[in-house]
Amino acid sequence: MYLLAHYFSAGKWWSTPTQYNQSMPYDFDAPVNRSNSDSIRWDRYAAGDVIPLWVADMDFQSPPCVLEALSQRVQHGVFGYTHAPDSLRHEIALYLAEQFSWEVDPEWIVILPSVVSGLYTAVRQLTNPGEHLIVPQPVYHHLRLACSEGPRPFTEIPLMLSHDRWVLPWQTLSQSCEVNTKLAMLCNPQNPGGTVYTKSELQQFAAFCEERDILICSDEIHAGLVLDSQIRHTPIASLSKSISMRTVTLMSLNKVFNFPGIGLAWAITENPHLRAAMQTDLHRTIADPGLLAYTATLAAMRGGESWRQSLLHYLRGNRDYVAARIKTMPPLRMAKMEASYLAWIDCSALNCADPHALFLGAGLALSPGAQFNAPQFVRLNFGTQRVILEQALDRMAAAIKTTNA
Ligand SMILES: Cc1ncc(COP(=O)(O)O)c(C=O)c1O
Repeated sequence: MYLLAHYFSAGKWWSTPTQYNQSMPYDFDAPVNRSNSDSIRWDRYAAGDVIPLWVADMDFQSPPCVLEALSQRVQHGVFGYTHAPDSLRHEIALYLAEQFSWEVDPEWIVILPSVVSGLYTAVRQLTNPGEHLIVPQPVYHHLRLACSEGPRPFTEIPLMLSHDRWVLPWQTLSQSCEVNTKLAMLCNPQNPGGTVYTKSELQQFAAFCEERDILICSDEIHAGLVLDSQIRHTPIASLSKSISMRTVTLMSLNKVFNFPGIGLAWAITENPHLRAAMQTDLHRTIADPGLLAYTATLAAMRGGESWRQSLLHYLRGNRDYVAARIKTMPPLRMAKMEASYLAWIDCSALNCADPHALFLGAGLALSPGAQFNAPQFVRLNFGTQRVILEQALDRMAAAIKTTNA
């Protein structure tokens, strides 16, 4: 890969150590060469001098406890049909209690291969043809695609900026509803945007759904990536028994521990009818997770916490660095980011019809805002080594200059 080869040969990786190294037992500045690993993010632009900060995975090895567990499982050498380990749902319940003070009965948990398959199942199985859905905009594209491919009629609810956070318009949600609105899709923490909804915001949303008898499908895959220690993730289903009974929560450790290529997720719902609906496609159109996914997920839950804390520390530094650099690039704007590693950058005041193409032309591949129905934005993945981020933002700044902003 051109970029990595360049860093290795120039010794540049080591020439700009960050302050984050000293306080951390894990070295997130360590170079990771992803060439020849069939990485979607790195392979798309491998032929050119392009820094790829688009698809949402990180350039970090998973925690040592995960690598060791996988290695032991591979040493066993037999990979036959495998059921979920007996302790898995119990350990997920313990993990949720520990992480989010959320008491879940292991019986409520449905194991899935991915959150995306859960999104499509939720739309198809929790609603009937013709029933209406609401979905935030912008949002991770599969929430919207699950609705459109359902196919189900749906209305997108534009997020708005309030106190520099992207939030749903809590007071006017009803304007997006129809008489037959059946399901509300929620993404918390929000991707893109990075908002972690507060308990009182979630209470407003929940009250609105109760009032209109709307079910909730809450994608909480980024829950373990809350960047600031004073902010806590609240699973919407943890608010009350009645909300729990109308909610399907989708979660996974794929994002946090950086093994989405192995893949395991789960749906949680206290309501037995919703649970049966979420199980409909299992072992049919939805395959079981691969056996290594069980190994990776259990290892991360049992031993990954100190690594996760170090990761958050490093990502916080990257977030602050990106925010500071964006401030020096008017008219670009970025709101406060509370979670994850996906910076949502507003280019609408830039003299440029296609910001994604502008930055690509300068050697920086970002996710186009169009993917989230917001073409005047770009999404930048800062789950990478600081030295790569520095170069990426230099390229961004150079590109801006060409627009006479
Ligand atoms: C909000 C959200 N949901 C789901 C996914 C994908 O989850 P999975 O890999 O488990 O299908 C992503 C990936 O970026 C995401 O951001």
